[in-house]
Amino acid sequence: AINLISCKNEVPAIEQNSYTQLGHNRKFPDNFVWGTATAAYQVEGAVNEDGRGVSIWDTYSKIPGKIKNNDNGDIACDMYHRYKEDVQLMKSIHSGAYRFSISWPRVFPNATGTPNPKGLDFYNRLIDELLANGITPYATLYHWDLPQILQDKYGGWQSKETSKAFAEYAAYVTEKISDRVKHFFTLNEFYSFTDLSYGLGQLAPGLKLPIKEVAQVRNNAVLEHGMGLQAMRQVAKSPLEIGVAENIVTAVPVIETKENIEAAKKATRELNAGLLTVMMEGKYTDNYLNSLGPDAPDFTMEELNLIAGPLDFVGINVYLANKYVQAGDNENGFELIQHAKHHPTMASPWHMVSPESLYWAPRLVMELWKAKEIYITENGCGATDELSQEGQVIDTDRVMFLKNYLTQLHRATSEGIPVTGYFHWSLMDNFEWIFGYGIRFGLFYMDYESLERNPKLSAEYFKKVAESNTLL
Ligand code: NOJ
Repeated sequence: AINLISCKNEVPAIEQNSYTQLGHNRKFPDNFVWGTATAAYQVEGAVNEDGRGVSIWDTYSKIPGKIKNNDNGDIACDMYHRYKEDVQLMKSIHSGAYRFSISWPRVFPNATGTPNPKGLDFYNRLIDELLANGITPYATLYHWDLPQILQDKYGGWQSKETSKAFAEYAAYVTEKISDRVKHFFTLNEFYSFTDLSYGLGQLAPGLKLPIKEVAQVRNNAVLEHGMGLQAMRQVAKSPLEIGVAENIVTAVPVIETKENIEAAKKATRELNAGLLTVMMEGKYTDNYLNSLGPDAPDFTMEELNLIAGPLDFVGINVYLANKYVQAGDNENGFELIQHAKHHPTMASPWHMVSPESLYWAPRLVMELWKAKEIYITENGCGATDELSQEGQVIDTDRVMFLKNYLTQLHRATSEGIPVTGYFHWSLMDNFEWIFGYGIRFGLFYMDYESLERNPKLSAEYFKKVAESNTLL
């Protein structure tokens, strides 16, 4: 038997290297942006106020059975009326930046044509309040709440008319707010509002179209981004930073060998071929077009040039390793590995725990496309938090999640990968699309009866990290 006492005496002193030394530099880069994020339909409520038009999410959420518990965003967090309180929440946790989305049907109830000044006024008030409190606004122009009229008239993203309408709306908003807002995202999560919405029927408008049409929807979406980008640059009041917020399909080398890393890089390019890759490269990969064959989308060279308009940064929403990858002998040079049956997940069924994704997604974006500036535009996790009698929410699952994911983010910034900011999804619990209010993503707990906001343990953790700019 091992004699623990004598064994302990014989253990040699731990060799000191940069990782074992206490006080190893756990700082994030100077000026690193710590922010929180939300989206209009998920938090605002007030769907019938001040002349707002109808969006596809208003319609979809009213179809019985589409949303868990038949929830909808009619009231949500009532941020439309409580934005001042919410700005104070941000301040209280040192969220120095706030990523919010503008509701297109609030600003243009009929998608284009005559704007609704009262709609834009809400965002003016919000922006002013943020700035007065030292919080930098980051505006997303499209976070899925397409004006219903575009769906009815043109089939939404199935038509390039929607891309043109977006350019008009984007130019209008940019012209009005770019005196104060300097950071913009054109669209949020292309994969979600194309494939998941028009192909798999999971999100509004809930269609299950054949692949040819889905490929066209993807093309129209990236085109819309390109047209919007061009229109925004033309009307900007001063130089702006404009990018996307894409849910990149994240490929992670299953074991970090040189060969597997190379394979993950190839996989990232191919798995994102119809969306991020074409925006970064201005062309569809050969594999993408060959695999679609006659189902490939209609596009012109001129459109490709627009689609790949230069971006100031790349924004990526990173929640998980969508695929683990290893090197393969096949033509592609990579093999995708399925997650194990019992790979742990967070409360959302899709959410495989995989902290390494927060290192590999930005690293591969940098290596593939020479990105000079990368934002993590969303990261966070759902949970089934409960408020205790004492008014506390002890979300150790979210704190565990954050510690592990931020460790990988720190690894990235320590290695010089140019990540300049991190936005936590979300500031507060909100309408989680088809999961309704059942899954909570916030740092603040929302009591949906009283609409009271309560900080969770994770809010405290976020605050400590953000104010010290240090991994804790
Ligand atoms: C992605 C989306 O952008 C956001 O709207 C959603 O709530 C979060 N991920 C969590 O699923």
